Amino acid sequence: MDGAQIDAVVLEANGLTVTLPDGGPAYFNTWWLRDNCPTSFDAETRERVFDIFHCSEVPQPADARIEDGALVVHWAGENHVSRYPLSMLAAYANGDPRPDPADLPRRPWFADHYADLTRVSHPLLLESAEERRRWMEALLVEGVAIVTDMPDTDEALTRTAELIGTIRPSFFGAYFDVRTHVKPTNLAYTSKALELHTDVPAEELAPGIQFLHCRRNSVQGGLNLFLDGTAVANDLRVQDPEAFRLLTEIEVPFYKEHDGIDMRARQRVIELDRHGEVSGVTISQHMADVFDLPQRLMDSYYPAFVRFGRMLQDAKYVMRFSLKAGECITFDNHRIVHGREAYSATSGERYLRGTYTDRGELRGIYRAMVSEGRFK
Ligand SMILES: [Fe+2]
Repeated sequence: MDGAQIDAVVLEANGLTVTLPDGGPAYFNTWWLRDNCPTSFDAETRERVFDIFHCSEVPQPADARIEDGALVVHWAGENHVSRYPLSMLAAYANGDPRPDPADLPRRPWFADHYADLTRVSHPLLLESAEERRRWMEALLVEGVAIVTDMPDTDEALTRTAELIGTIRPSFFGAYFDVRTHVKPTNLAYTSKALELHTDVPAEELAPGIQFLHCRRNSVQGGLNLFLDGTAVANDLRVQDPEAFRLLTEIEVPFYKEHDGIDMRARQRVIELDRHGEVSGVTISQHMADVFDLPQRLMDSYYPAFVRFGRMLQDAKYVMRFSLKAGECITFDNHRIVHGREAYSATSGERYLRGTYTDRGELRGIYRAMVSEGRFK
């Protein structure tokens, strides 16, 4: 290397320091550089086709220089040259996570949210990518949206769900019907009030996005209750930081015995994302197992748990309304807490059909949509 190139690229014991046009000197490890040579990725699938595990020696640059807006590295011991656009290096220079278009700030909502709920029409969803984007954005930002004008068919629910994911069965099956059953296996299948809850925390990964398609609703009572668990948890964080800490750190057991299966999983009541912000809650009195924590820990855990459970019931947070036939409420099952009031089973008919998809797939479809063309 001549003097000018030494200034731009400096070889160190385990990497290179590169002077970036706008950011000054930035360090890159040689393993990272060799692994992430642009040729490591298949042009069509974007999958990595280079296997770093086949490198028996620490990758060593024989020569490294800046040429035409790229760092060019000739690797010692192999006949390979890597060209890294400086814009790519700048994106990874500070260890910042790759920008994520689906990482939208959550907007908390309260009891008066019904009038502002995002509503999208089923026929329009099927034909309009923009309508689907608006729906997905509402699910990411507010955690809830209502699909209107649903045909009165099983297929309509499937077609709706498959717009933003793959049907994701729970141990209850791929679909569930909520109506009064003669021999109920679950409180949902009675006309009794249904405690505020998130669905199926007895599964290791509880279902992500829930769809409840209202097919009939002519009963008296049975108002639907929905609330934003993140809004409540954020208030708890301010009002009682120690209770908040306990609910974010300690896992408690949930279970469900059903048709020859004994499902068990441990969950934190309040879930934090990688930024340390509340991303969800898990609550289910009917699937909570006997808490098997040390009894001395119960002295502090139970008051925190009960305080949060009471806050969830506060009228400030709970949106009450009656889901109408032809509507499908769609919501983030890790964020939105739901329940219903009791109803009179003899006063009419009430039938909801439900299914789930996953949160990750929602984000994946949303990302691809907003970055359309990026990989083409
Ligand atoms: Fe439920």
